[in-house]
Amino acid sequence: MRSPDPKFNVLLLGGGGREAALAWAIRRSPSLGRLFIHPGNPGTAAWGTNVRPEIKDFEGLRRFCLEQDIRFVVPGPEAPLVQGIYDFFQEDAATAHIGVIGPSRTGALLEGSKAFAKAFMRRHGVPTAGHYEVTRDTLYRGFQILEKMQPPYVLKADGLAAGKGVLIVEDLDDAKRELAFMIGEHKFGEAGSRVLIEEYLEGVECSVFILTDGTSYKILPEAKDYKRIGEGNTGLNTGGMGAISPVPFVDKHFMQKVEDRIIRPTVEGLKAEGIIYKGFLYFGLMRVHGEPFVIEYNCRLGDPETEAILPRIQTDWVKAFEAVTEGRLHEHPIEITPKASAAVVLASLGYPEIYDTGFPITGLEAMENVLVFQAGTKADGNRLLTNGGRVLVITAQDSTLEGALQACYQAAERIHFDNKYFRRDIGQDVLEGL
Ligand code: AMP
Ligand code: GLY
Repeated sequence: MRSPDPKFNVLLLGGGGREAALAWAIRRSPSLGRLFIHPGNPGTAAWGTNVRPEIKDFEGLRRFCLEQDIRFVVPGPEAPLVQGIYDFFQEDAATAHIGVIGPSRTGALLEGSKAFAKAFMRRHGVPTAGHYEVTRDTLYRGFQILEKMQPPYVLKADGLAAGKGVLIVEDLDDAKRELAFMIGEHKFGEAGSRVLIEEYLEGVECSVFILTDGTSYKILPEAKDYKRIGEGNTGLNTGGMGAISPVPFVDKHFMQKVEDRIIRPTVEGLKAEGIIYKGFLYFGLMRVHGEPFVIEYNCRLGDPETEAILPRIQTDWVKAFEAVTEGRLHEHPIEITPKASAAVVLASLGYPEIYDTGFPITGLEAMENVLVFQAGTKADGNRLLTNGGRVLVITAQDSTLEGALQACYQAAERIHFDNKYFRRDIGQDVLEGL
């Protein structure tokens, strides 16, 4: 008699909307034993066990994983990956059997250091914006470069800057001042003391995701993210206010270029350089006159793109993680439904700057045709309170994008909390024929 398929325990790291969507997707795996989320949020408790946030370091995670017989660790955000969680688990004989779904510390530099990513792309012929690196010693040269360029000027801090590392400046004097400020601000730190002046790319953006075992890869559904806080793509950059998938302008022809010029050279380049990468890789792309360019790599999935794309993916995620860890992802089926998916973020008014929290959230019961992923929430007895900038992410799938958006917006009206803010134009540009 055949023994039943083994079940594996999974530890998911993070506590936002992306992790809520991951928890929902992983929960559906027939190969899942127990799912833990550290720290999770009140919403993720529906799909697994939230681990209290006392664990502060990798050593604590290591102990937890051994105690709970965890087989796969899935980091949602980039921080643990950039800090080297993959290497930490691999280098210890007691935890080397635990598959961390993500890159090694060096692989995570694709996100953790923009200078590293640029040099990598140059070595492997991956199309990206031209750039010049400025340090304290070359600040004056940086000014000269800016003087020769046309506005807008793109300035990027080299290291991780929690989404605040990119400036797009119209005026030359402002650009020089900002450059000097960015260099000076970090004069005693080393990671931030390098700034990239980048060529401005004019085009439309999209996000492409893959899962890779380091040799083969599976292309996941692409998405378009709405990053600005205001309608019509105005105002400050946020983590993302909504997303749609698929993206109509990412047709077969464009995707073939992305695969040939960007995805394959990246995966092959990592392998050729001996850089271990076994996880999700996010390509932030700009389409310029029909040609794809990389704006950035991220070593994780996007938020809120994840909330939009995961409902379109049919796969046994735990088996996918096993295949990634064992280097046989090519054997593992990942099906993508042709349905349209939309995600709309309900945020706290004032985000991404100052906002109040602690307001009761109501209207979540009896939601039809949508999935609501919690992001910035907190439980207070039986009440659910707002507890962050991005509070909830509503997603829906439908045969048309209009239908998916309509379902999201109907739900958005039915959910209540003080200072609720959301963009009402997610997907509009695409519907209007972008
Ligand atoms: P990043 O943090 O690298 O994703 O940059 C944030 C945003 O700045 C991107 O989503 C783009 O909208 C914009 N951006 C970054 N680099 C460039 C560039 N070279 N040209 C035009 N826009 C850019
Ligand atoms: N939504 C953009 C990101 O996750 O970086």
